[in-house]
Amino acid sequence: HDNILIISSVVDSGSGSNRLNNNRSMFQIQGETFDKRLASVADLISQKKNIVVLCGAGISVSCGIPDFRSKDNGLYNNLNYQELGLTCAEDLFDLNAFSEDPRPFWKFVRTNNFASGKIAPSTSHLFLAWLDEQQMLLRIYTQNIDGLEQSAGVDEDKIVYAHGSFKGATCMKCKAKYQSSELRLMSKQEVPVCHRRIAKKGKISDNTAKTNSIEIPPERRSSRKRSSNNNSMAEEFYPPPVEQGCCGGIIKPNITFFGEKLESTISRRLEEDYKKADALIVMGTSLSVAPMSKLVGFLPDNVPRILINRDIVQVMKSSTQNYKKQDEFCLFDACLLGNCDAVTQAIKAKMSNRDAKSEYEHYHSGRLVTDNNNGTWLKNQPRESVLLFEGALLSAATKEEATLPAQNVVVHCDHCENEIKDQIFCCKICFDFDLCSLCYPKVKLTHADGKHEFTIEST
Ligand code: OAD
Repeated sequence: HDNILIISSVVDSGSGSNRLNNNRSMFQIQGETFDKRLASVADLISQKKNIVVLCGAGISVSCGIPDFRSKDNGLYNNLNYQELGLTCAEDLFDLNAFSEDPRPFWKFVRTNNFASGKIAPSTSHLFLAWLDEQQMLLRIYTQNIDGLEQSAGVDEDKIVYAHGSFKGATCMKCKAKYQSSELRLMSKQEVPVCHRRIAKKGKISDNTAKTNSIEIPPERRSSRKRSSNNNSMAEEFYPPPVEQGCCGGIIKPNITFFGEKLESTISRRLEEDYKKADALIVMGTSLSVAPMSKLVGFLPDNVPRILINRDIVQVMKSSTQNYKKQDEFCLFDACLLGNCDAVTQAIKAKMSNRDAKSEYEHYHSGRLVTDNNNGTWLKNQPRESVLLFEGALLSAATKEEATLPAQNVVVHCDHCENEIKDQIFCCKICFDFDLCSLCYPKVKLTHADGKHEFTIEST
């Protein structure tokens, strides 16, 4: 968006990305048996050199980190948010809630060892590292903040932390940057605060020499309605005391909260990868949170798409809310449903031409969809494209274990950065470039390869 050119005024209320033509992927699962169909998917993956992976919380569940929306063990359903002093579980990652009282978030981080660097990667993370080792991986777009893809050995350059990570932190007041090693130490405190020294008016120095005197910052009153549970942190939050001459601002890890815009480098990287991607693997995500969920529809239609998840998840080709036509959902060329560790273990064995039956301990629970378990959970996926593994959820329609519905999407204008509350002028070519109705007529920007082409969507 650096160069200035005239905006294209092509506006229609229509069909989403113009990259979504009718060139469906040529891949079709072959074979009559589970074993042959698994081999067919493994063959497909083996031929690829530039695989893009979109992953989410599901790949870290076996590491002991809960996902967000699973009804059984998901964080949003199980978090005792009242005890933390929150009005709802989703506020844990909400920027306003954090700004007013960072204690619930930091307590959660401590309890889950997020910043400790002590959590070991799962079989699924190791599978991604193996794909990288085999030089088949173009990029991982991870929505996870645990950094386990890198701990597993994936090259750092291959990972895009779409929602940020604990690899660094920033002071909300002076914007001083902290490394993950510093963050690890700081996260043991109830609320980490910035200890950078203020040299002169507002200038921060790196000298962290200690003094004995303590400065109590001015009182901050919260306007937010808090939970009234007696055991909670419901009393007002006062920033902790800091040494005189230190900044004392609240430290926020470099993760993206609701209410914050994604780094623009993510869109640019994806627009580059668009040209090279030869397969997409979606793993352990409910695709509930935009804009990353839009990646599935963004890549060219002829790129084969493989889903590895407990249940079938879907995303509309256009993010336009009014789009309800079934054929406008992105379908996957193959859906390998079950615990992603079981699925990746089986695929890796097949790709390595080893006997999956002897190597993959849960192999015998692998099966095809039969008339008996055919149902609404298939969500228009042709049943031949679906393979079932241990842990597969065929019960989305029975509500028990299905994922919670999508959260409302907050869209920010890429020019004024305000939240868009009415019409979104959304570029059909860029991955994620939106303008509000005030900026649209006056902004003159280009995307990576030329002019924007806008479509109107409503919030
Ligand atoms: P969700 O909790 O929304 O979805 C997790 C998905 O993984 C669900 O479809 C589960 O069925 C599936 N799943 C769970 N365990 C699994 C397993 N062992 N094997 C395979 N699949 C499994 O998590 P995300 O899609 O990652 O954002 O959520 C996206 C974003 O929403 C997060 O990055 C976070 C959250 O609010 C922010 O905090 C900004």
